[in-house]
Amino acid sequence: MTKLYFAPMSLSDLDEVMVIEKKSYPIGWSKSVMRDCIKSDYHTIALKKGDKVIGFGIVMTALDEAHLLNMCIDADYQGNGYGRKLLKYLENLCIYNRCKVFLLEVRESSPVAQSLYKSFGFKQIGFRKNYYKKSNGREHAIVMNKTLK
Ligand SMILES: CC(C)(COP(=O)(O)OP(=O)(O)OC[C@H]1O[C@@H](n2cnc3c(N)ncnc32)[C@H](O)[C@@H]1OP(=O)(O)O)[C@@H](O)C(=O)NCCC(=O)NCCS
Repeated sequence: MTKLYFAPMSLSDLDEVMVIEKKSYPIGWSKSVMRDCIKSDYHTIALKKGDKVIGFGIVMTALDEAHLLNMCIDADYQGNGYGRKLLKYLENLCIYNRCKVFLLEVRESSPVAQSLYKSFGFKQIGFRKNYYKKSNGREHAIVMNKTLK
C-alpha cells in the first residue's frame, strides 16, 4: 500500500500544489502567492501519497491565534477522508504551537467544506461580504472559529 504522510511543503511541491489549487477554485491563489507562503514562516503542509502531493494546508499562527488560509484536497481524491485527516493534522499543529483559537473563512458556496468544519466544532462568528473572487463576480465568506484545548 502506498504510504500516506504529511510533510512541510517545499518549493519542489509548488507545481503539484498549483494543479490542485487550480482544480479546486476557478480563481485561486497565484503561483507567486503560493511560493511566498512556502518561503514565509507560515505552516505550509503537504499531504502526500507516495511521491504525489494529494492535498495541502496553509496556516498562519500569531501569538495564541491560528488562521487557516487555504486547504485543498486534489479533486481526484476528495470524499475519501483525506480532508478530515488533513484538518486534524493542522489543528494539532496549532495546539502544539500553543494556539487557543482557530479561525477560518469559507466560501458560502462550499457546503462540503462547511460541513467538514462544523463537524470539527467550528461555529460561524461572522460574514465577509464579497470576500472571494469567482469567475462571474464575487462571493461572500462565512467566518468561523473554534476554541482549541
Ligand atoms: C473541503 C475539502 C478539503 C474536503 O476534503 P475531502 O477529502 O473531500 O473530505 P473528507 O472525505 O475528509 O470528508 C470530510 C467531511 O466533509 C463532508 N463531505 C465530504 N464529501 C461531502 C459531500 N459530497 N457532500 C457533503 N459533505 C461532504 C462531510 O462532513 C465529511 O465528513 P464525513 O465523511 O465524516 O461525513 C475538499 O473537498 C476540497 O479541497 N474542496 C475544494 C477546496 C475547498 O473548498 N477548500 C476549503 C477552503 S475553505
